[in-house]
Amino acid sequence: MRNIAIFYSSSSGDTKTVADFISKELDDIKEFDIKITGSDYINDYTNIILGVSTYTDGQLQLEWQKIWDPFCKIDFTDKKVAIFGLGDQIKYPDNFVDAMGTLYTQIKKSNGQIIGNTSIEGYQFNSSKAIIDNKFVGLAVDLNNTQEHIIIEKVKSWTEELKKNFN
Ligand SMILES: Cc1cc2nc3c(=O)[nH]c(=O)nc-3n(C[C@H](O)[C@H](O)[C@H](O)COP(=O)(O)O)c2cc1C
Repeated sequence: MRNIAIFYSSSSGDTKTVADFISKELDDIKEFDIKITGSDYINDYTNIILGVSTYTDGQLQLEWQKIWDPFCKIDFTDKKVAIFGLGDQIKYPDNFVDAMGTLYTQIKKSNGQIIGNTSIEGYQFNSSKAIIDNKFVGLAVDLNNTQEHIIIEKVKSWTEELKKNFN
């Protein structure tokens, strides 16, 4: 049995919605709202999905900010990590899903292996800290400006990729 968990936080419920879409596609997966569990349990998993939304000129959502110090102390050696990021490309085109880039940078520092990068095609924005080599470092989701069936399709193909790459 695979050992997979999602750790997310969500101010208005959007990241929770996408976490639930992802859970439906993967067997034996646990979901943790870091508002309740903090950074506890992350270390118990080898296959990890992190969900983060972006606020205020590219900042991490509040609950991520609150657990940031203990989160940065976790050693991600031998762990595979996939990130999904919520943002709004129309209202915030200069900082679209920046927080996903912030998590990416930290996981690399903590020796984790990132999986699940995705194409930037089909999005409209000016700049994003979540892009490396012309690809998003994870799955970028704009729930405010995208039809739900398109998001579900994106989640399906992303989770197929994760299934191939998780331990
Ligand atoms: C005050 C405010 C600031 C925001 N700033 C950004 C931003 O800099 N970049 C971005 O991509 N989205 C930004 N957003 C959009 C949110 O990330 C988006 O609505 C997201 O779906 C919220 O997810 P959540 O409800 O799970 O927290 C902002 C939203 C608000 C209300």
